[in-house]
Amino acid sequence: MEIDPILQKYPKSRDYLIEILHDIQNAHPQSYIPPEVVTRVAKHLNVKQAQVYGVIGYYSMLSAKPRGRYVIRVCASPICNLMGSSNLIDYLKEKLKVDIGQTTPDGLFTLETTECLGNCAAAPAMMINQEMYGSLTTGMVDILLEQYSKSHK
Ligand code: FES
Repeated sequence: MEIDPILQKYPKSRDYLIEILHDIQNAHPQSYIPPEVVTRVAKHLNVKQAQVYGVIGYYSMLSAKPRGRYVIRVCASPICNLMGSSNLIDYLKEKLKVDIGQTTPDGLFTLETTECLGNCAAAPAMMINQEMYGSLTTGMVDILLEQYSKSHK
């Protein structure tokens, strides 16, 4: 994976580690940060690889494991749960034929749950990669899945 353009976008400082990792993950077709990239980023910023893995492990949006092109993260915190996120999770499991943490066989979608996304006023909420969606219904989920599937073709 070519990461030079991303590294050059930011000052060579560990203060930008999170931004760099986000950009790399967003650019990767499997929405993750591969080990060889961790090595390069650590060397570039003059930090230990363990520090980079520490940041990846701390932030639930970042992943060191391959995932789908689109990562669906449904909020499972109390307010969203009260507003029906558990139904949405069940619906997505059935529709995508995957369990939490799994990726569809075509490599398009990974289903995850997450803590509060800070969008409680529009519960139930979820994110697909960097995009936030709220006040969701199963009908809206259908439309979103169709849109993302089409945008990939
Ligand atoms: S509880 Fe779901 S966004 Fe806050």
